[in-house]
Amino acid sequence: MRSTLGWSADSDAATLRRTPLERRDLRPDDIAVRIDYCGVCHTDAHSLRGHQGATPLVPGHEFTGVVTEIGPEVAGFTVGDAVAVGNIVDSCGTCDMCEVGQENFCREFPTLTYGGTDREDGTTTLGGYSREYVVRESFVYHLPAGLNPAAAAPLLCAGVTVWEPLRALDVGPSTRVAVAGLGGLGHLAVKFAVALGAETSVISRSADKAEDARALGATGFVLSTDPEQRAAARDRFDVVIDTIAVSHDVGPYLRMVAMDGTLSHLGYLGEITVQTMELLGGRKKLSSAGSGGRPATAAMLEFCATHGITADVEVLPSAQVNAALERLERNDVRYRFVLDMSDLD
Ligand SMILES: NC(=O)c1ccc[n+]([C@@H]2O[C@H](COP(=O)([O-])OP(=O)(O)OC[C@H]3O[C@@H](n4cnc5c(N)ncnc54)[C@H](OP(=O)(O)O)[C@@H]3O)[C@@H](O)[C@H]2O)c1
Ligand SMILES: [Zn+2]
Ligand SMILES: [Zn+2]
Repeated sequence: MRSTLGWSADSDAATLRRTPLERRDLRPDDIAVRIDYCGVCHTDAHSLRGHQGATPLVPGHEFTGVVTEIGPEVAGFTVGDAVAVGNIVDSCGTCDMCEVGQENFCREFPTLTYGGTDREDGTTTLGGYSREYVVRESFVYHLPAGLNPAAAAPLLCAGVTVWEPLRALDVGPSTRVAVAGLGGLGHLAVKFAVALGAETSVISRSADKAEDARALGATGFVLSTDPEQRAAARDRFDVVIDTIAVSHDVGPYLRMVAMDGTLSHLGYLGEITVQTMELLGGRKKLSSAGSGGRPATAAMLEFCATHGITADVEVLPSAQVNAALERLERNDVRYRFVLDMSDLD
């Protein structure tokens, strides 16, 4: 085994402590990555809050770094390459979903970067809030030159999670898109939708984000707590991307979807409420998605390189991880915390 350091929560604890960790020895198709930057996703906060059982939890599933070692069968990477890893680190590779490049929907369920079960040795995966990760080559991406590695880290979860549905829904110049919840996922959804040529709006409960929304390229802003603004936005958007981090009634957001349009629910993964009548009036569609397949992830990184898109980040030493999580839960982030892992050396 290889030793590294990371930020881990013991059983039933929600606070992360600096902890020695072990990574597996490299398998033939494995890559060892020195993690330089890891984004703080709201899923990390949800996972810590729900953390139970004896297994330690090391969150973190969007990171960038440098290849430090490769297994003998690795063909696409060499030591020193700048790379990125997201929230999936393995899949069966043979099911119908994997065959069409939707490893995120693998019939055997993809191996998650943390809290997943390794397909070979059955151990629980430990995430990217650490200085090193060992991962199969197939789930490592080259970080395009020109993308700042700290600001690019959030592309690997927040970015691809909104990218894939935007593409699947054919968002482009003739689409009216609204993004509900201007956070980590939301601000990247706005950047992508704008770059894809869509007329883009933000739906937010935070009036003080209106100016930021405009700076991100949105031309409309709906204050979701204001009934008049909600009514004025009725049936207005072909696509609503819902990235809200809490369980909620999607009714108010469905009402803003135009006839035959879609509400893509990407935020809080759990129970939500929906009245079928909200879908009936206007033949509206409710959909969801999560993460991205390998082809979509690579395509997103290319798109970001072409359009100069990265996340708006506040970079913190990794020792401030607990403060970052606490601020994230208070909505005090513009728009993604990224941990600098170099303080673990
Ligand atoms: N589908 C997937 O695979 C996937 C991947 C990653 C994350 N997620 C989930 O997506 C959600 C968003 O993640 P994130 O990292 O973008 O979080 P985030 O940065 O905290 O952004 C979430 C946004 O939701 C809105 N919000 C938060 N609490 C709210 C409340 N009580 N009522 C109404 N709106 C609220 C806020 O936007 P405003 O201030 O603008 O209202 C906030 O900025 C999380 O639940 C996360 O677990 C899902
Ligand atoms: Zn995430
Ligand atoms: Zn599969």
